[in-house]
Amino acid sequence: MAFRANISLLVFTSLLFSLCSALSPNYYDQTCPSAEMVITNAVKKAMMNDKTVPAALLRMHFHDCFIRGCDASVLLNSTKNNKAEKDGPPNISLHAFYVIDNAKKELEALCPGVVSCADILAVTARDAVALSGGPSWEVPKGRKDGRVSKASETKQLPAPTFNISQLQQSFSQRGLSLHDLVALSGGHTLGFSHCSSFQNRIHNFDAKHDVDPSMRPSFAASLRNVCPVHNKVKNAGATLDSSTASFDNMYYKLLVQGKSLFSSDQALLSEGKTKGLVSRFASSKEEFESAFVKSMIKMSSITGGQEVRLNCRVVN
Ligand code: HEM
Ligand SMILES: *[C@@H]1O[C@H](CO)[C@@H](O)[C@H](O)[C@H]1NC(C)=O
Ligand SMILES: *[C@@H]1O[C@H](CO)[C@@H](O)[C@H](O)[C@H]1NC(C)=O
Ligand SMILES: *[C@@H]1O[C@H](CO)[C@@H](O)[C@H](O)[C@H]1NC(C)=O
Repeated sequence: MAFRANISLLVFTSLLFSLCSALSPNYYDQTCPSAEMVITNAVKKAMMNDKTVPAALLRMHFHDCFIRGCDASVLLNSTKNNKAEKDGPPNISLHAFYVIDNAKKELEALCPGVVSCADILAVTARDAVALSGGPSWEVPKGRKDGRVSKASETKQLPAPTFNISQLQQSFSQRGLSLHDLVALSGGHTLGFSHCSSFQNRIHNFDAKHDVDPSMRPSFAASLRNVCPVHNKVKNAGATLDSSTASFDNMYYKLLVQGKSLFSSDQALLSEGKTKGLVSRFASSKEEFESAFVKSMIKMSSITGGQEVRLNCRVVN
């Protein structure tokens, strides 16, 4: 009898747990009904003054989700005793943290202690895409914020020099497939890269080639022009695609022409399955968009936190 009771208690608590931890688009309907509106307005306002905001927010969400789940660990400041993720090596394009701060400040006035920083970041990433001409979708919410952020863990992010098997491993460790990899790489339709992120392809590529032979020569030449071996221009680099402020399938169209920036982009063409997806997304914006939305929801549902932070930059 006691055994039976224990089992049903176990079933009950695990059901309760999964109900509590499940994300839902209606999560704040009772507790903070205007949450999304407040967040979207903060993004709109920031975009008016700074066109680089959408790309920054989308990338920030990706970084967040790939380290300790989408728990806003990327937003925490370093402290006297801890160097945080944002001060780790591959942070060169992370910016626009103030957009999250602005939204959080308003939300704390409106519904104190309710809306997590991780949810704010997930909603801003959706807004970044939608307000740049891309698709929109309902963001499942209810993430909690984490209490740990370590610069040393940014090593867990995929590097732009990764080949297809390294990319596949990085994504599958987070429950994401090759299909997700190809769709989410389409995030590179927005934004900018510094020379250092594609330097390996345009100088000293390998023993036989100075330039990656899979790169279109005219494209490589223009990148070498902006990024010479001893680059002295601070913040020199290139846009990730030719329509950098608009969320479209241009990234894939350029990729099949040998005009992608990173080895990790080019790697999508090195294997049959991913190559097939790239050409489908290059020829259909609609197919790309619906795949992107599905994969974004999947990536942004990797949870990890424990609390609702009151200030996104410090743990409670
Ligand atoms: C597949 C593995 C990925 C690698 C290796 C990678 C690598 C990079 C690198 C090296 C940069 C340029 C950083 C710089 O030099 O400033 C960059 C920029 C960017 N990435 Fe990725 N990325 C990956 C996946 C993603 C995903 C999944 C998304 C979002 C869905 C994303 C969105 C962005 C955006 C929007 C930028 C531009 C940021 C800005 O302009 O502020 N990336 N990525
Ligand atoms: C976090 O760091 C930023 C940049 O260094 C600083 O401006 C801000 O005041 C810090 N916020 C908190 C709450 O420590
Ligand atoms: C990136 O990290 C470096 C040190 O590794 C740090 O000096 C810089 O402030 C960081 N950048 C941002 C945007 O936090
Ligand atoms: C990818 O790189 C890793 C590490 O350098 C290497 O072991 C592996 O063989 C490479 N895979 C492919 C498909 O090139």
